Amino acid sequence: MPYPDNSKYADFSKAVLVWFQDHGRKNFPWQLNPSPYRVWISEIMLQQTQVATVIPYYQKFLQSFPDLKKLALAEEDKVLHHWTGLGYYARARNLHKAAKIIYHDHQSVFPATLEELIDLPGIGRSTAGAILALADDKYAVILDGNVKRVLSRFHCVEGWYGQSSTIKQLWELAERYTPAKNCRNYTQAMMDLGATLCTRTKPSCSLCPLVLHCEAYLSQRTSEFPQKKPKKKLPVKTTQMLILQNKSGNKVLLEKRPPHGIWGGLWSFPEIQEKDSIKSFVQKNGFTVKNEIMSWNNLRHTFSHFHLDIRPKILNLQKDTNMVMEKPGWHWYDLNSPPELGLASPVKTLLEMLSNK
Ligand code: ADE
Repeated sequence: MPYPDNSKYADFSKAVLVWFQDHGRKNFPWQLNPSPYRVWISEIMLQQTQVATVIPYYQKFLQSFPDLKKLALAEEDKVLHHWTGLGYYARARNLHKAAKIIYHDHQSVFPATLEELIDLPGIGRSTAGAILALADDKYAVILDGNVKRVLSRFHCVEGWYGQSSTIKQLWELAERYTPAKNCRNYTQAMMDLGATLCTRTKPSCSLCPLVLHCEAYLSQRTSEFPQKKPKKKLPVKTTQMLILQNKSGNKVLLEKRPPHGIWGGLWSFPEIQEKDSIKSFVQKNGFTVKNEIMSWNNLRHTFSHFHLDIRPKILNLQKDTNMVMEKPGWHWYDLNSPPELGLASPVKTLLEMLSNK
């Protein structure tokens, strides 16, 4: 991409770069020996997750998959296992798919242009820009949540992020201010400014290098920007999770979920609708269970678009597991030596509760 002539806006990037020298964050694991692969993994993990949560996941992930080939050739279950607890599992599946594409179609060489990067599953325009800028110090523009917040305030941008006119305006501003040189430091600096000073609540405006020209600050309206999406109450869905324990109590049945939809490809307890009877599930699958069924307290898991109220039901088998009880897509999970599987987050919680019993 040609460099834009944004020299008349250079004061903005200069102020940001000077601030970065003393106040920028420079010791994240993905900043040491930066490479497109390492930056890519970090950017995907950081998309919906806080830095402090990401760091241990990132380190373990890089230990198991130190390079693109290791990731491309890994079993999907192993990749998802490393994602257990991070949420938004489509990110992990896309990461794995993209690694295979780079391995097979690009001879393991990470694509070096914005267009090629955007073509990969899970990589949008901002993530592609971040990879180019942070890994190779190339000219590229980003617009992640931090940059959106800084620019929304700096220019009192109207509207919320779901509106295309708002996003278009923010991209234009991001392009206007991104300098032709020092893109790595500028990009990291904008993320850091957003994460450490221009925070969602209680921004530290007195420490901000942009304060003297920030329209929201000057009009005392920092709390109004970025403008929020009008709130809708989330609907509540319910489900029953059946925890089938074998006679010895050391194994429980997990089912692999279909590849798409919520928790796609992860392992979960068999689920039935609230209206469906546990008895018919038991009969249909040829189990013999003890009469009493124990209910545990409901567990609420909130997705971006609904709450899921989970009703855990404990069923105890009269016999231990045997060959008849094996089926593709089933796994008798050994509580005493847990295998490496990708688990839906509330399933992980329930398994921990079972192990602590
Ligand atoms: N969030 C997304 N990318 C980041 C990075 N490189 N450093 C800190 N926070 C981030």
